Amino acid sequence: SLIPVILCGGSGTRLWPLSRKSFPKQFVPLVGDKSLLQLTLERVALLGPQVMAVAAEDHRFLVADSFRQANARGTTILEPVARNTAAAIALATLQADPDDALLFCPADHYIPDAAAFARTVKEGLSAADSGAIVTFGVVPTFPSTAYGYIRQGALRPDGALQVSKFIEKPDAATAQQLLLAGDTLWNAGIFLTRARFMLEALEEHAPDILAACRAALAAARREEPGSAAPGVAFVRPDAAAFAACRSQSIDYAVMEPHKQVAVLPFRGQWSDVGSWNAVADLAPADAQDNRVLGQGRVHGARNTFIHAPHRPVVALGTTDLLIIDTPDAVLVADRSCAEQVKDVVANLEKSN
Ligand code: GDD
Ligand code: MG
Repeated sequence: SLIPVILCGGSGTRLWPLSRKSFPKQFVPLVGDKSLLQLTLERVALLGPQVMAVAAEDHRFLVADSFRQANARGTTILEPVARNTAAAIALATLQADPDDALLFCPADHYIPDAAAFARTVKEGLSAADSGAIVTFGVVPTFPSTAYGYIRQGALRPDGALQVSKFIEKPDAATAQQLLLAGDTLWNAGIFLTRARFMLEALEEHAPDILAACRAALAAARREEPGSAAPGVAFVRPDAAAFAACRSQSIDYAVMEPHKQVAVLPFRGQWSDVGSWNAVADLAPADAQDNRVLGQGRVHGARNTFIHAPHRPVVALGTTDLLIIDTPDAVLVADRSCAEQVKDVVANLEKSN
């Protein structure tokens, strides 16, 4: 069967002050009144009745809440510490049956057309059956250095395209070249494969990560669904064994070196909601390119974004600003500095 595996261990620091360590962006209602995790659970419900999640132990209540709200059932693996996506994917793959098809999805992406998404995933199943790790590609629109790039190769007999090269997070000059080349797609960060093929790929490219995760799961504590979390069975890998695991993303650990990688273009709207500019893009713009969510008001402003869920926030005559209001912290930033928010947060943490 097809099991969606939702990776929800990220910290989302670029969306401070809305996204916090104890309450990261995937749990926050960013667009509308549902969290991105809840929207993700609802989207993947079209693909199968069971779902798996891999999340931080600290967020178990937030995950259980989201499962309850989305009426989802399945297993959640709780990581005692974060060891990046290669380890999270290894844990889920080892937990699954080798014959299961697994769809690894980030918890924090915005993909409004769930039906189109489900169709594209199903188109990828025959490539997944023939041994490939299937990625989903988005047509790039600017030379982003925050994404992986996929160079498309020949059409495969199973209908997907062969990936001739996978380039994770290139530098600015390389990103520019990749964009101009015209034959690349952004990696949407969603992967489909049979569990057995992901195991083989991990064994080949990151055997140490696979071994650490195998040891952590062999000594795991398992908890059946209870009254606090009706739909969720928790699996807690052994803390010492998991802490010993190397921390690397799946993109560097497996996708770049792996040979059997295919891609299917996804043509629906997709956003990884990676920065405040990306959140702003999801809100409608007025004639001066201002965007407001909640109780924001603009007067004589241009290209100003206000996120004000709790109280009125007014921008008068401002240009190119991001204004994010929360009960206990406010961010005012130039639009061009959105990517630097995470560095500021890192400094805040150090000085606290
Ligand atoms: N369980 C768990 N544990 N989940 C994690 C961990 C971890 O240690 N680290 C990250 N995640 C989750 C995040 O919550 C997110 O949903 C997903 O895994 C991807 O991690 P990111 O840290 O957001 O990756 P990225 O955005 O820098 O890059 C990836 O996504 C891009 C598209 O958004 C790559 O796959 C890029 O190639 C891709 O373009
Ligand atoms: Mg991301």
